[in-house]
Amino acid sequence: MNSPFILVIFGATGDLTARKLMPAIYRLVKAGEITQEPFIIGVGRRDITKSQFHSMMEESVRHAVKEDFDTALWKKIVAGIDYQMGLFEDAAVYNRLVTKLEAFDAKLKACVPRFFYLATPPEHYEVILKHLDGSKLAEGCGQGTTNYTKVLIEKPFGKDLETARTLDKLLASIFEERQIYRIDHYLGKETVQNLLAFRFANGIFEPTWNRNFIDHVQITLSEETGVGKRGAFYDGVGALRDVVQNHMLQMLAVTAMDQPVAFDATSIRDMRVKAMQTIELIGPEDVGKNVVRGQYEGYTGESHVDAASQTETYVALKVMLASERWKGVPFYLRTGKKLGKKVSEISLHYKKPIVCTGDLCLFPEPKVLRNVLAVRIEPNEGIVLRVMVKQPGLGMLDLTASMMHFTYREAFGNKENPDAYERLLLDSIRGDQTLFARTDEIETSWKLVTPLLDGCKNTQTPVYIYKHGAIGPREADALIEKDKRSWFLI
Ligand code: BG6
Repeated sequence: MNSPFILVIFGATGDLTARKLMPAIYRLVKAGEITQEPFIIGVGRRDITKSQFHSMMEESVRHAVKEDFDTALWKKIVAGIDYQMGLFEDAAVYNRLVTKLEAFDAKLKACVPRFFYLATPPEHYEVILKHLDGSKLAEGCGQGTTNYTKVLIEKPFGKDLETARTLDKLLASIFEERQIYRIDHYLGKETVQNLLAFRFANGIFEPTWNRNFIDHVQITLSEETGVGKRGAFYDGVGALRDVVQNHMLQMLAVTAMDQPVAFDATSIRDMRVKAMQTIELIGPEDVGKNVVRGQYEGYTGESHVDAASQTETYVALKVMLASERWKGVPFYLRTGKKLGKKVSEISLHYKKPIVCTGDLCLFPEPKVLRNVLAVRIEPNEGIVLRVMVKQPGLGMLDLTASMMHFTYREAFGNKENPDAYERLLLDSIRGDQTLFARTDEIETSWKLVTPLLDGCKNTQTPVYIYKHGAIGPREADALIEKDKRSWFLI
């Protein structure tokens, strides 16, 4: 796709632009997926020149793509990158953008599609959106035609149900839903999408994907690193808002959803939201029974973190779904920072086969473990099936668990999967909203998470301290062990 476009990034000197957006743009250009000459304006509060901005971006792209860096190509790209310093609340910033964007349209003698990417801390969203509206930038030059503008907005999308609704109202007063791209980068991950292909393109799994066969489901998003330089953002936000409300619930939705009629935005998003809507609400009074929070040792000593902070850096929870498909099947979710390893994984734990008839047993019952189908989102993307096999030898009763593997590396070589941001940027340029959260998904997720946050304000969910490298506080083990199950990772 070589059509020109304009991308305005608010928060251009921030971490996201450097680590994700610029490398994604570079890779898309290199792959011939988008024009070699995009027009990009970075808007930031830092007082730097355009050429300093170019150097910063070059450094990050070089760092991200390593030996794939092509100097001649970068020169072409950078020729279309501008920087504009300014405060987001200053109307003059937007007036200057109007002039620049109009000049670009005039040069190309076209109404060039405009993308506004909000990559700032969320407290700036409101003021930026209001100025996009006030300056008429939001309208673009082709409103009402196919060249309408689009807005891409990063999470966190609100702090609770009320603030999310306020933000959504504001967005809806300026843009139509088809123009709004709410980013949840987990939806852009290759393996999350492959889960759908795996379920619906194979005849053997989907028939078992329900309460008749599945005992329970686990979803883990474990990180090795702590909050790093993001203490100011993270403190007071915590794991429930930072990843449960979005990435974890989206992974749950993709796992639990019914079959869509087609792989298009409406069908898939309808099914995702339907699955989320079936999650039973946990009222504040029940939070103590279903939620365990933790904080890594040393968190309160991190920079920009309150010394008495009660913010959770770990959370484990159990939710139930009321749907016909999943009634009675618990979904256990856990996520945390400074845990033993970086891994995101979804696993379906099958019911055990019946091996005993009265006192007569084919095998000693405890030796038969559940079959587990685990989808490794990352790293070592792949799918693993735990099966029971007979150990080689003369005895019939010696069973052992063995793993059947499909890994991306074995199947497709060492070629890296596209980064989620590459896919999401490309999809937004193509106008495909499938992998973006719709307004009703946001509303539903906050309806679920807000009572949890309210419940956590009470002392019934203390924040347990855990050590670096542990897989969370011990109390989280109790959450699942009281149901006679245990946490699992491949
Ligand atoms: C982000 C959270 O949305 O997701 C971070 O704000 C978290 O705190 C990150 O580290 C995890 O994403 P990934 O892709 O590294 O698993």
